[in-house]
Amino acid sequence: MNQVKRPLIIGHRGAAGEAPENTLASFELALKQGADGIELDVHLTQDGQIVVCHDPTLNRTTNGTGYIVQQSLESIQQLDAGAWFGDAFRGERVPTLREVFEAVPEGKLINVEVKHAYEGRMEHVLLSFLRRSGRMQDVVVSSFDHKCIKRLKVSEPELQVGLLYAANLIDHSAYAELLGVEVYSLHPHYEGIGASDIKLAVEKGLHVYPYTVNREEEYRRLIEAGVSGIITDFPARLADVIGSRHT
Ligand code: G3P
Ligand code: MG
Repeated sequence: MNQVKRPLIIGHRGAAGEAPENTLASFELALKQGADGIELDVHLTQDGQIVVCHDPTLNRTTNGTGYIVQQSLESIQQLDAGAWFGDAFRGERVPTLREVFEAVPEGKLINVEVKHAYEGRMEHVLLSFLRRSGRMQDVVVSSFDHKCIKRLKVSEPELQVGLLYAANLIDHSAYAELLGVEVYSLHPHYEGIGASDIKLAVEKGLHVYPYTVNREEEYRRLIEAGVSGIITDFPARLADVIGSRHT
């Protein structure tokens, strides 16, 4: 993983503000704009393949309909996943996790967000893919499903795992310790984390990656507070603030 002093720029669903989320075009744009890594969401197809899509259904981001888990990879890959965003992206497909790994250079962070455990099937397929990929150190697997995260870490101690939070209900650092497995990172909603929470977490050795931050004043607040990375729909905008823009 990139060893940089400044916070990592992590492209949310790629560069979801400027390209159709979770497509190869979106991930490639994020990297071109200077992202140190990408965040993506995964689901299982009926035939047990991991595809990259945020929603459990195809309705919002493709020209198809219905649940991913009820359809084969072959039929899902015939759909258009770009036209809904703009004509320039017509022809984009729903990528497999493998296709994204092939498109992202080694050393870039890949934050895989597990959206659904599918009764444990996702963990099995994901771990077997990650072990074979030889890129375990580039990966952080996060989820709002903390039981799933715990099972993943117990099954594969080398895996770096992160806890996602939508609300600020508890001291997240203390909670991470209670989980009983080593947690690599906290992924809080940016509105629910303040400077003292960030400082405490970083002092405890946790990485802190707030999501989804798109405004300049929020970038500055979080950078000042010492976050490890920022998940954003606009990697170029964040790179401008950090002073590391590529294009
Ligand atoms: O992983 C950060 C963020 O993606 C979590 O929320 O709904 O955008 O997947 P969501
Ligand atoms: Mg996500």
